[in-house]
Amino acid sequence: MDDRRTWREVTLHPEKSVSRRTWLASMAMGIGLVASYGLFAIQGFLFLLPRRLHPPTRRLFAGSLDQFKMDTLQGVLDLQGNEILVKRDRQGLRAFNSTCPHLGCRVHWQADKQRFFCPCHNGVFNDNGVAVEGPPAAAGQSLAEVPLDIDHKSGVVYLEVKDMGKATT
Ligand code: FES
Repeated sequence: MDDRRTWREVTLHPEKSVSRRTWLASMAMGIGLVASYGLFAIQGFLFLLPRRLHPPTRRLFAGSLDQFKMDTLQGVLDLQGNEILVKRDRQGLRAFNSTCPHLGCRVHWQADKQRFFCPCHNGVFNDNGVAVEGPPAAAGQSLAEVPLDIDHKSGVVYLEVKDMGKATT
């Protein structure tokens, strides 16, 4: 029996008897080829896929905890210069993107009415950032909440913000 037949010979002339060793070598080569092409295809897909699924973020220093007084709201700029509104009340500390989800105007906090207001089309958001009046309410939109983290040991507040600089490199 000839153990030195190549995979090509085995494929082109299957009627000839094939040894177990040749058959195993051919199978191993075939599996290796399928695995390597599969991994190549997956890597190519991940390379082409925009980073929308997992947008890069960065931990941004927002300030010390005692700097955010009860029942007040403070603006913090993110890495793109957009204002993040950090609000402290009985529910705790929360942060909202100040960009209106309707058409992108800047919302501001109205302390006397305890609401966010967008002057472009009179959009109103309650203190949880949920739209209650105007076009954003009709569309069921809310202000995007920005994740924040409080390091209670050091008393420092961090925001988890999008890092578009990482996305382009
Ligand atoms: S952009 Fe804010 S309500 Fe239209």
